[in-house]
Amino acid sequence: MQKRDQWTSNIGFVLAAAGSAVGLGNIWKFPGKVAANGGGAFIVVYLVIIAVVGFSVMLAELALGRNANKNIVGAFASINKKFSFIGKLGVLTAFIIASYYCVVGGWVLKYIFEYITGAAFAGGYSDYFVGLISSAAEPVIWQFVFLALSIAVILRGVSSGIEKVSKFLMPILLVILVAITVRSLTLPGASDGIALMLNFDFSALTFQSVAVAMGQAFFSLSLGMSIMVTYGSYLKKNENLVRSTASICTIDTMIALLAALAIIPAVAATGTDMGMGAGFAFIALPAVFAEMPFGFFFGLLFFVLLFFAAFTSAISIIEGVVAYASEEFKLTRKKATIIVGALAFIVGIGYSLSQGAVSLNIPWFGEAGSISLGNFMEFFTDNLALPLGALLTCIFVGFIWKTKNAAAEIEQDGKFAFKLKGAWDIAIKYVCPIVLAVILFYTLVLGVGLS
Ligand code: PHE
Repeated sequence: MQKRDQWTSNIGFVLAAAGSAVGLGNIWKFPGKVAANGGGAFIVVYLVIIAVVGFSVMLAELALGRNANKNIVGAFASINKKFSFIGKLGVLTAFIIASYYCVVGGWVLKYIFEYITGAAFAGGYSDYFVGLISSAAEPVIWQFVFLALSIAVILRGVSSGIEKVSKFLMPILLVILVAITVRSLTLPGASDGIALMLNFDFSALTFQSVAVAMGQAFFSLSLGMSIMVTYGSYLKKNENLVRSTASICTIDTMIALLAALAIIPAVAATGTDMGMGAGFAFIALPAVFAEMPFGFFFGLLFFVLLFFAAFTSAISIIEGVVAYASEEFKLTRKKATIIVGALAFIVGIGYSLSQGAVSLNIPWFGEAGSISLGNFMEFFTDNLALPLGALLTCIFVGFIWKTKNAAAEIEQDGKFAFKLKGAWDIAIKYVCPIVLAVILFYTLVLGVGLS
């Protein structure tokens, strides 16, 4: 049995977990969703969901991981073998997300390259982006570069790879984001965007926006799959899980709010349409930057920011799968990392090609009757597998492992006070499962999130 690596410090762990949480979801999904769902009122709902549901599930996942000191499948199996399928679902979800996340990460790298070389996006941003993602070879090359960088960090191990990189990149990420926010807020016309963020008209909130906020919260906190269980398993027993969970949730939420403050006013100031999806980060925003003074510089900064955010998230998603592969199949970490990386690369090529180079469609019950492989991968993971994984995890922790045993892992013989234990028990057993079931219902019955 190989010796398991551990985080060397609490701050290193918190930054690595925050690095996982802070990703593409915070920087471009969140601001777009705020704008599309009415602004301030949506933000308030989101904050409540993070504090009640997100916090509770993250604490449960970290406790589960640390208790077992194993990868996610091993963690479920160590309590009850029959439920190791929940861990396997988590690994599958992580693997699919890893595959496509690296493709998007590759696009980000290509944009940085374009800014640095001054090639300046020939043909306009829209044609440029569509041309890039629908070509066959180029995105795959960038995907490879992005994946290779992530794998290089994972190969160095948990403490000297993942922890070191996160400790270095996360503070820089924050500084860049603050710089872009200040630039954006001082643009003439920024006040329209600020007004939107302060629009607390709760009557305009629909049930659907609440479901969107819930889905966003889970994705943003990297819950519902192997990551937080795996990261928790590298924690020492003398760390305070409640405090760490609160720190990770706070950092993730602060960065999402800052991103909204950076992006919404800038978009409003230039009168750009607040479209959603990939096009928003890759088409609308570069155009916004191009219109402001020193725009080229801020455009470059923005994509470096996006890269840092995506990079630490990609590392965490791959790590969850690598930990499983190496421990459950008794492979060396090195072998497991290379195999997982190679497989993710192959599946990612499918995602990349389905963006336009080749028509790869999957039959589905949505309106169009079929969706592209790429959309299917995103939809299956973000909208189905993540909430389902989180739902099963709550039921498992609440009723199979039992919250009192989880609380004992958190409290460590009374070493750490856990004042909210009673409330947490109710949240894990009842509130979170109901909330998650509602998200799943919306997705399956009404097709929310199906594009
Ligand atoms: N939390 C990351 C984000 O907001 C994405 C992510 C999702 C990372 C799932 C890992 C797992 O972009």
